[in-house]
Amino acid sequence: MKILAFQGSPRLGGNTDLLLSAFLEGAGEAGAEVEKIHLYRLNFKPCLECGECDTTGECVIPDDFQKIYPKIDTADVIVVASPIFFYNVTSYTQAMVERAQARWVKKYVLKKPPTTGREKGAFF
Ligand SMILES: Cc1cc2nc3c(=O)[nH]c(=O)nc-3n(C[C@H](O)[C@H](O)[C@H](O)COP(=O)(O)O)c2cc1C
Repeated sequence: MKILAFQGSPRLGGNTDLLLSAFLEGAGEAGAEVEKIHLYRLNFKPCLECGECDTTGECVIPDDFQKIYPKIDTADVIVVASPIFFYNVTSYTQAMVERAQARWVKKYVLKKPPTTGREKGAFF
């Protein structure tokens, strides 16, 4: 099982990061392949609602999130960990959710299979 984990706190080694690490350590010991993504280390924009993904299911914003899409496509489980900032998840966590719009469109509107051909790893 492949677990992709998004760490949405700007503080490396902070509460969220530590809790997520503990979870991933346990999952790793149970045999899962785990990968943690520190969202604040990526250079990426929130969704621009350009509409390009409406017909293709692919996001065209040329930033670091492009290398995240294949990881989403091949994950069996996606874990999201975020501290609360003003009664919500952090802005980078929200931006990650927005950028997943392309995959939501691909699956639910266009009804296309995932890019990598694996049906598992549904995000929503
Ligand atoms: C900008 C900002 C907004 C915050 N808003 C909330 C909030 O609405 N509710 C809350 O309980 N804590 C709030 N906090 C506190 C953080 O959630 C708390 O410090 C958390 O442990 C930080 O997680 P981390 O250690 O993983 O970075 C806020 C902190 C910051 C910096």
